Amino acid sequence: MTVVASDDRDRRSLVRDLEAYLIGLRDMYGDYVVVDPEGTVSAARPEPRPEGRGSVAGGAGAPFRSEPPLPNRGLQPVAAGTREPRPEGRGSVAGTAPTCPPGPQQTSFLPSDVPALAAPGLRRVRAAEPGVIDFGPGPDVVRGPCSPEVRAEALRALDEGQVKGCTKCRLSQARTQTVFGVGHPCARVMFVGEGPGAEEDRRGEPFVGRAGALLDRIIAAMNLRRADVYIANTVKCRPPENRTPYPDEMEACAPYLRTQLETVCPQVLVALGRPAAQCLLGVNSSLGELRGRFHRHRGIPVMVTYHPAYLLRNPDAKKATWDDVKLVMRFLAETPDPLLLPTDPSRC
Ligand code: URA
Ligand code: URA
Repeated sequence: MTVVASDDRDRRSLVRDLEAYLIGLRDMYGDYVVVDPEGTVSAARPEPRPEGRGSVAGGAGAPFRSEPPLPNRGLQPVAAGTREPRPEGRGSVAGTAPTCPPGPQQTSFLPSDVPALAAPGLRRVRAAEPGVIDFGPGPDVVRGPCSPEVRAEALRALDEGQVKGCTKCRLSQARTQTVFGVGHPCARVMFVGEGPGAEEDRRGEPFVGRAGALLDRIIAAMNLRRADVYIANTVKCRPPENRTPYPDEMEACAPYLRTQLETVCPQVLVALGRPAAQCLLGVNSSLGELRGRFHRHRGIPVMVTYHPAYLLRNPDAKKATWDDVKLVMRFLAETPDPLLLPTDPSRC
């Protein structure tokens, strides 16, 4: 398929259609779909990959294996030749001036057919129940003006003004530095992890260690770049020995994540692992019970899936995570991108 478009908007809409088409193809053929840089889409059987001793590769069917993808194999970026060039990505606030969604459409991105939280068997718990933070419920998050500069400044102010010097819980005592969050201030997708590990504590950025490398591959498999999404954690300081954050630690840190969420106002949240899911949904269910369908946090659809660190230890679960990720991709393909909506200069 060759895509020829006369202006940017046509091109972007064609790329969106192409992405939706690809998702459909992938649903049929798994990760056997190949897209070459000329935009030709074909379905092909991959050669078997050797998996070395001790390799964490596996998770049959999942495109984000442990080794980097081979050239033109598996999930390459969609039609690189036809994609809108965004050299600095959605992660940049210095790129080309974005458009801003018009007022009446500000809250219309969330489909009404995503079921509310209470799927069968889920228990809403009180904040006091051990192990669970009642992070919500709160009022639905309302999209504010979409200027990336304004949002980036709000995030910077939160980080510099409150998070960096935070001593609200014991985790502050052992940290090298806080790990605030990273990504595009108008990201459509926000990933929420558990807490920084050793590498994150050293570098001050979430998901930059081994689990981060796998998260990067998951993001790439979604045809997104790290700069396109927003990544944060339930706690901003590394728990000693990478233990699960204690409820009072998550509770102390929750206002920061809450503000990040209200500022970025993503169209969809991905909770990585049980603590993030429990924190966002206020339920005490297992990961297996929660994954595979959308829940809601303050009006925002939440997909729960396995934490990348869990996937490194249990590669067979990668297939399940890929199924979860495909639901997120389908949701995004069916939901308007706010940055592609017509500009309303009065709101920017
Ligand atoms: N695991 C997490 O939950 N968060 C990180 O930032 C890194 C690893
Ligand atoms: N339990 C967790 O806490 N996280 C996972 O990702 C899977 C099981």
